[in-house]
Amino acid sequence: MIRAATAADFERLQEIEVLAGAAFRDIGMPEIADDDPPTIEELAESVAGGLAWVAEYQGRVVGYLQAEVVGGCAHVAQVSIDPIVRGRGLGRALVDHLEGWAIDHNLEALTLTTFRDVPWNAPYYERIGFRQVEPTPALQAVVDREAELGLNPATRVCMRREVVVPPR
Ligand SMILES: CC(C)(COP(=O)(O)OP(=O)(O)OC[C@H]1O[C@@H](n2cnc3c(N)ncnc32)[C@H](O)[C@@H]1OP(=O)(O)O)[C@@H](O)C(=O)NCCC(=O)NCCS
Repeated sequence: MIRAATAADFERLQEIEVLAGAAFRDIGMPEIADDDPPTIEELAESVAGGLAWVAEYQGRVVGYLQAEVVGGCAHVAQVSIDPIVRGRGLGRALVDHLEGWAIDHNLEALTLTTFRDVPWNAPYYERIGFRQVEPTPALQAVVDREAELGLNPATRVCMRREVVVPPR
């Protein structure tokens, strides 16, 4: 089940972020694994904007997605799933939910930036319908902001998935 995140979820979302990020340690990217999870303030801002959703599995919150509007598109700022329930389609369900939100808000596409060569990043997003694109000015600004935070822009890629409006 996908639902809007609330303040009661915040500590669990921080925990999920740490658990999900740990995989980066296994591929020699400990600095990404050690990245701080989103702060309570950042999560509260997403919730206030109606831009954070959680996935529940067997009654427990196991994943979340934070979005923002970037260049007229619904931008996936973060999506993380607790490793114990990976591969059950919950990441895809969160992204599909964002697509529904984008349709409701007349946005034409979903976008994101991610690591090109990390298997559960760009290859994963390709699997769920994104394709690599040249950065628009708005996406370039995201990549530039990430570079200021220490992410090497040469390792990053911008991706886009058109929204598909269901027939009435
Ligand atoms: C990336 C992540 C969100 C995926 O969530 P998930 O619920 O395990 O993924 P899903 O079950 O929805 O998988 C959807 C599809 O992607 C495929 N997939 C899953 N992991 C994959 C991987 N590592 N590489 C390639 N494809 C993958 C699945 O096989 C599935 O395809 P199918 O339905 O055609 O068989 C999760 O692994 C995660 O939290 N990773 C760590 C945090 C992170 O890096 N987030 C993304 C960057 S912000």
